Amino acid sequence: MKYNFDEIIDRRGTDAVKIDAMKNIWGKTDMIPLWVADMDFRTPLFVIDALRERLNHEILGYPVKPQSWYTSIIRWLESRHGWKVSASELTFTPGVVAGLATILHSFTKKGDKVMVQPPVYHPFFLLTEHNHRKVVYNPLILEDGQYRMDMERFKEDIKGCKLFILCNPHNPGGRVWDKDELVEVARICHENGTIVVSDEIHADLTLPPFQHHSFATVSEEAENNSIILMSPSKAFNMPGLFSAYCIIKNKNLHAKLQEHVRANESDQGHVFAYIGVAAAYSNGTEWLDQMLAYVQGNIDYTDDFFKRHMPLIKVIRPQASYLVFLDCRELGLPQDELVRLFVDGAHLALNDGAMFGKEGAGFMRLNVGTPRAVLRQAFLQLHTAYNLL
Ligand SMILES: Cc1ncc(COP(=O)(O)O)c(C=O)c1O
Repeated sequence: MKYNFDEIIDRRGTDAVKIDAMKNIWGKTDMIPLWVADMDFRTPLFVIDALRERLNHEILGYPVKPQSWYTSIIRWLESRHGWKVSASELTFTPGVVAGLATILHSFTKKGDKVMVQPPVYHPFFLLTEHNHRKVVYNPLILEDGQYRMDMERFKEDIKGCKLFILCNPHNPGGRVWDKDELVEVARICHENGTIVVSDEIHADLTLPPFQHHSFATVSEEAENNSIILMSPSKAFNMPGLFSAYCIIKNKNLHAKLQEHVRANESDQGHVFAYIGVAAAYSNGTEWLDQMLAYVQGNIDYTDDFFKRHMPLIKVIRPQASYLVFLDCRELGLPQDELVRLFVDGAHLALNDGAMFGKEGAGFMRLNVGTPRAVLRQAFLQLHTAYNLL
């Protein structure tokens, strides 16, 4: 491998949420941080170098979106995902979650219904609630170690919903949705007049042999009735740049979002936001493939370790991304004791599964985007605590 993902980099003193928020949340810092969804690998040098080069010019004035922002996105989506988009279909947003909020305000009003599929990335329902929209929960079903959608219930739950926020690929479940599943979602949502907002921030982290299908590509109904959110932030470990974008093929939906965005000036990025995206997408293929191979190795290592040494904890193998949902229900612990096992017993900071909705109770989310030696140490600590149960 050309890149070294085994290197342990000290992130203390960099105001990293993963490290510096532990004290606030758990009241202590003596834990290995395996929670917040960023990686402990170096952000690739071709991104850092591009930002450094810009810093060589010592006026940080207002930026325009450079042409390279458009062309790098267009080229990447075509080469990596086989999807043709044009510049006029792109809207910058300062992060995917900020984009979600803008979409909520553009396409719904207070009291409108918005559907989500728990256990799911918590801002989907928190943002909806905090903006006084009504959350409709359409829980996923865990079957044979993987999540799937409950299509019968979907048909009922979707009725009257203005938006459906799809997590594609899914966090924390790790599913890369099949084309057939997405075609069916598109059909039902179109029939019900529900716009699909597909959060595809984890798309570039799809692990071979799985293949990501951008929602808009699966059918004409999907293309005409969707808003896709994407960003290189997860795949290239640069979420601190808060740089993402929407793709909307339907001209009416695009115009509606643009109207809101213009009124609120919410499509302005800072000077590094555009440069980071262009650098990542223009140089990223080899680095990304090697990083994914390393993450795949970490997932194999995790699965093997738990099977051999902690068989009551089941690893839900992700089909995309470095987030591993651990099914701990066979331990038979109430949620607070389960969290205590990890935090106080093993000195590990993982996400409490219940934060992703009540369906996440009995689960913990582990971030394996870290050097394998860190994982090994974490698993030894957990094994010691597990044996004391
Ligand atoms: C599904 C999903 N969407 C969005 C985000 C965050 O996106 P951003 O940092 O661009 O707001 C995350 C971060 O974990 C995520 O998992």
